[in-house]
Amino acid sequence: MAASLMKTIGAGVLRAEHAGDTVTLAGWVARRRDHGGVIFIDLRDASGIVQVVLNPEDSPASEEVLHGLRSEYCVQVIGTVRPRPDGTSNEDLPTGDLEVVGELLNVLSPSAPLPFQIDERVDVDESKRLEFRYLDMRRTRMAENLKARSKAIGAMRRVMDRDGFLEVETPTLIASTPEGARDMLVPSRLRPGNFYALPQSPQLFKQLLMIGGVERYYQVAKCYRDEDFRADRQIEFTQLDFEGSFWGQDDVLEVLERIVSEVVMELRGETVEIPLRKMTYAEAMDRFGTDKPDLRFGMEIANLSEVFSDTEFKAFAGVLGADGGVWGINGGKLSLSRSGLDGLVSRAQDLGAKGLVWMVVEEDGTLRSPVAKFLSDEELEGIKTVLCAGTGDTLLIAADDVRVVGKVLGQLRLDIGQPDGNDELAFAFVVDFPVFDVAEDGSLSPAHHPFTNPGDVDVLVNSPEKAVSKAYDLVLNGSELGSGSVRIHDPDVQAKVFEVMGISAQDAESRFGWFLEALRYGTPPHAGFAIGIDRFVSILRDEPNIREIIPFPKTQTGADPLTGSPSRVDEEQLSELGIDIRPEVRARWVEEEDRADGEGAVET
Ligand code: AMO
Ligand code: AMP
Repeated sequence: MAASLMKTIGAGVLRAEHAGDTVTLAGWVARRRDHGGVIFIDLRDASGIVQVVLNPEDSPASEEVLHGLRSEYCVQVIGTVRPRPDGTSNEDLPTGDLEVVGELLNVLSPSAPLPFQIDERVDVDESKRLEFRYLDMRRTRMAENLKARSKAIGAMRRVMDRDGFLEVETPTLIASTPEGARDMLVPSRLRPGNFYALPQSPQLFKQLLMIGGVERYYQVAKCYRDEDFRADRQIEFTQLDFEGSFWGQDDVLEVLERIVSEVVMELRGETVEIPLRKMTYAEAMDRFGTDKPDLRFGMEIANLSEVFSDTEFKAFAGVLGADGGVWGINGGKLSLSRSGLDGLVSRAQDLGAKGLVWMVVEEDGTLRSPVAKFLSDEELEGIKTVLCAGTGDTLLIAADDVRVVGKVLGQLRLDIGQPDGNDELAFAFVVDFPVFDVAEDGSLSPAHHPFTNPGDVDVLVNSPEKAVSKAYDLVLNGSELGSGSVRIHDPDVQAKVFEVMGISAQDAESRFGWFLEALRYGTPPHAGFAIGIDRFVSILRDEPNIREIIPFPKTQTGADPLTGSPSRVDEEQLSELGIDIRPEVRARWVEEEDRADGEGAVET
């Protein structure tokens, strides 16, 4: 950090070689202790902490000022650096073997009493942390996370810059586009009754940039999606978005490998093994029951259908067929009690399974299970062979529709196998996604946005459930870090895809006519990707929720306890926008106000 007149050096960067220097520090009182007249303060600033010794007798400031110093007062200290007396070093602090003897202290700004202590060891309710985020970020956790986020973005920009990408900003007040989630809308004052949408991603604009001849584009882009919150989902989040012309899938994956390597080196100091693993969607679903497998551990799903092809066990025989079969996982040495095993069965049923068979391999090699008596010796041996079962292993078997089994065993695999405290990073590309996800009832929903190259158009039209698109994801430790695709650059194919996805020609023309028009002017083949920056940094920082990585996030219910958004606006503003709040919503407001008044009355 560059020095200023008010501050010549950061508290945390002082080292033994500064002994004897006169320095001007500025920061916050992290802690203050009185020692028989002498006052010690831990002075904290963005760079760290240093101990300052103030002796009122040397009159660095009036005694009154010194005794009035409280936590989080913002102060300036002029003093001299000296080694700490023998035996008083603090090994936990990088500045722990020195201190600054204060000669002058200025209170720049006092602090009101704090809503919580600025101390990492004190647990603070998250709503309080968010309400006072500016205090929360004085604590180490948030301060470090903000730094990590900045470093990660810096590393990404370096790669983009080195590879010749042009940084281009795209608008955030745009027309609504079909990207899968609900749009956030912004009313227009100049054209009452009309709305802008906030971008779910810069998807169409980056494609327009390719048509515009940019060839290599990137942006650290804010995206907005009106969807339900989860640990890895906010309504407002940030992507590293990029796109390239005359590109196919491999060009994108190579850039991603460079980005991932640079970011991991920056934040973890580790080398990522390149090339990253790559598997098809079909393989990921078969082996792990999910398109975002956690590859930090094995416990793969194995197909036992052959073993049971002639079974007399009704629960299994009944499901064997076109889409049905029997699959199992070897959960390893779980040593669960009977109730623990029954708990797994209930969990499987909650996840949609008809049932779950558990088996434990005994010392003598026999399989202990409530259903063992219904199975033949060949079947029991077959299970052991396919699941590579050894003494003490717990085997879990489910028979059902392939999608149900994938979901159930895929989740059980995570429940019992996900390693605690394993900070390994298991990246993988998942490629060859289907154009459509097929639900259990056979209905189709688009797996990616409709600008994704759908592969063979004949297959798309004649058997859409079989169509394989040129879409790919980047997965890290069981999370989807990002996704992208080779795009459609032919307007006729684009129109066809809209049609197959149930967007009528008329609708497509009225909503995206401008985009179909743009595709008609010599569109280069192009491909791209977007990484969820919040997710990436949260995994690298081992944080359980992306809120910890976002400077000013929303709560689970979409509120910001700090600024009070979302909030009502003046009637005048509404009227300018041509907006009427519906009577039932106004009635709800009145109810809420009554309730709040009632609660207020109880409190007083
Ligand atoms: P997609 O919709 O898959 O692709 O988004 C890319 C990545 O963005 C992150 N992400 C989110 N992060 C936090 N909160 C959310 N609500 C949220 N939604 C998505 C995820 C996700 O993998 N335009 C395409 C990309 C492309 O085709 O180039 C797109 O946005 O990490
Ligand atoms: P039932 O025939 O329903 O009494 O089930 C006998 C045993 O098989 C019970 O332990 C069930 O949990 C189990 N079971 C039933 N259906 C399935 C299935 N589709 N997959 C795995 N186990 C099952």
